[in-house]
Amino acid sequence: MRATGYLFVALAGLACVAWAEDLLFPYMHGLKYSEYDIAIKQGHTAHVCKDEAEWTSMTTADFAKYKAIVIPDCLCNSSLATVDFLDASKSVWSPAVTGNMIIIGTDPSFHAKWYNLTGAIAMMQDAINLVASKNGTGMYFSLSCYYQAASTPVAISALSEIGEFMVRGNLSHPCLNDAHLVAGSSVMTSLKDSIASNWNCSVHEAFTSYPRSGPSGFEALAIAVNASGPGQQEFADGSRGIPYIIARGATPLGCGNNITEPAYKEECDDGDANGTPESLCSSSCRCVNGVLEPGVCRPNPTSTSSRSTQSTPSRYIEATDRLRRLLILVTAPRAA
Ligand SMILES: *[C@@H]1O[C@H](CO)[C@@H](O)[C@H](O)[C@H]1NC(C)=O
Ligand SMILES: *[C@@H]1O[C@H](CO)[C@@H](O)[C@H](O)[C@H]1NC(C)=O
Ligand SMILES: *[C@@H]1O[C@H](CO)[C@@H](O)[C@H](O)[C@H]1NC(C)=O
Ligand SMILES: *[C@@H]1O[C@H](CO)[C@@H](O)[C@H](O)[C@H]1NC(C)=O
Ligand SMILES: *[C@@H]1O[C@H](CO)[C@@H](O)[C@H](O)[C@H]1NC(C)=O
Ligand SMILES: *[C@@H]1O[C@H](CO)[C@@H](O)[C@H](O)[C@H]1NC(C)=O
Ligand SMILES: *[C@@H]1O[C@H](CO)[C@@H](O)[C@H](O)[C@H]1NC(C)=O
Repeated sequence: MRATGYLFVALAGLACVAWAEDLLFPYMHGLKYSEYDIAIKQGHTAHVCKDEAEWTSMTTADFAKYKAIVIPDCLCNSSLATVDFLDASKSVWSPAVTGNMIIIGTDPSFHAKWYNLTGAIAMMQDAINLVASKNGTGMYFSLSCYYQAASTPVAISALSEIGEFMVRGNLSHPCLNDAHLVAGSSVMTSLKDSIASNWNCSVHEAFTSYPRSGPSGFEALAIAVNASGPGQQEFADGSRGIPYIIARGATPLGCGNNITEPAYKEECDDGDANGTPESLCSSSCRCVNGVLEPGVCRPNPTSTSSRSTQSTPSRYIEATDRLRRLLILVTAPRAA
C-alpha cells in the first residue's frame, strides 16, 4: 500500500509539472515576441519550447494540456518558412485545439516592439485572453506578413485540418488603415476601432473565406473598413469590409438580440440565453448541435437520465412545432 502511495504522489508530481503553464509558445528563432511579455503581464504563465525538436516531439495529448497555443507575430516576417514547423505538425496539434481561436491578419508584435503602439498591445492582450478563456485548448495565430504579397487568395496550409481558410494580401496601396470591430467578448476589453486603425499598415492579410457554420464556425472580429473585392461582407451595424481578424468563440454584432438574422450568418439567437445550458444556441449564435433551418437548432441527444431537471429548450419546442405544421401541410388533402 505504501509503495502505491508513493507512486501516486510521484505521478501527481509529474502531472503538476505538465500542467504548470497556461500557454505554449513554439520555438521561433529563439526569440520571445511581444505576445510572450504581454501574456505574462496579463498573469498567464507560459512555456516556450527550447527548440523545434521539442515542439516536434509533442503529442496531441501534450498540446491539449495547455489553455492555449500561441503562434506569435515573428516581427512582420514575410517568409512562410517561419511556420513550416506548424504545417508539418498539424495532424498532431489540430485535434487538440477545441477551444477558442483567433487568427490575425496583421503583425502586432512588430508594431508593439518598434512603435510601442497602444493598439498593437491591446490587440495581443485581448486575443490571448480570448483564446485562454475557454475550457478546451485555444489557439492564437498571427499571420504576420507571410501572405502580404498574395495577389489572389491562398489557402493557409497550416490550418487545413481545422478548415479551409483563404487569405489575400496586396490589398491596397499604400495601406489599409481603417479598422472596425464587428464582434466582441467579455474578456476583450482593450481593443477599440480607433487604436486598431492607422498602424501604417493596420491590415496585411484579409480573409476571403473561412469555416462559418456549426459550433466550430468562425466570426469576423475586425474588418478593413470599405475594402472591396473578394471577401467583402456586410455586418449587422451596416458596415462593410473584409475581415482581417477572425475568431471562434466571439460574439458578433447583432447576436444576442433574440432575432435570428441569416443575412449575418446567424443560425439562431436566443437573446440573453445564448451560451447558457437553457439554450441550444451558442454565444456566437451557432447551434451547438447543428442547425435544422434558420432559427431552429438540432435538439440535444436524448439524455440518459429521464429525471433531468433541464427545461425543454425553447428552440426544440419550436422545431417540433414547425415539423408538426409541415406534416399537416404535407398530409393535408390538396384543393383541386
Ligand atoms: C524570417 O524567417 C525566415 C525563416 O524562418 C528566417 O530565415 C529569416 O531570418 C527571418 N527574417 C527576419 C527578418 O527575421
Ligand atoms: C510605451 O507606451 C506606454 C504608454 O502607452 C508608456 O507608458 C511606456 O513607457 C512606453 N514604453 C516605451 C518603451 O516607450
Ligand atoms: C472542462 O473539460 C473537461 C474535459 O472535457 C471536463 O471534464 C470538465 O468538467 C470541464 N470543466 C468545466 C468547468 O466545464
Ligand atoms: C499588387 O497589386 C498591384 C495593383 O494594385 C500590382 O501592380 C502589383 O503587381 C501587385 N503585386 C503583386 C506581388 O502581385
Ligand atoms: C507610413 O510609412 C511610410 C514608409 O515607412 C512613411 O513614408 C509614411 O510617412 C508613414 N505614414 C504615416 C501616416 O505614418
Ligand atoms: C466607408 O464607406 C461609407 C459609405 O460609403 C462611408 O460613409 C464611410 O465614411 C466610409 N468609411 C471609411 C473609414 O472610409
Ligand atoms: C425571445 O423571443 C421569443 C419569441 O421569439 C420570446 O418568447 C422570448 O420571450 C424572447 N426572449 C427574450 C429574452 O426577449
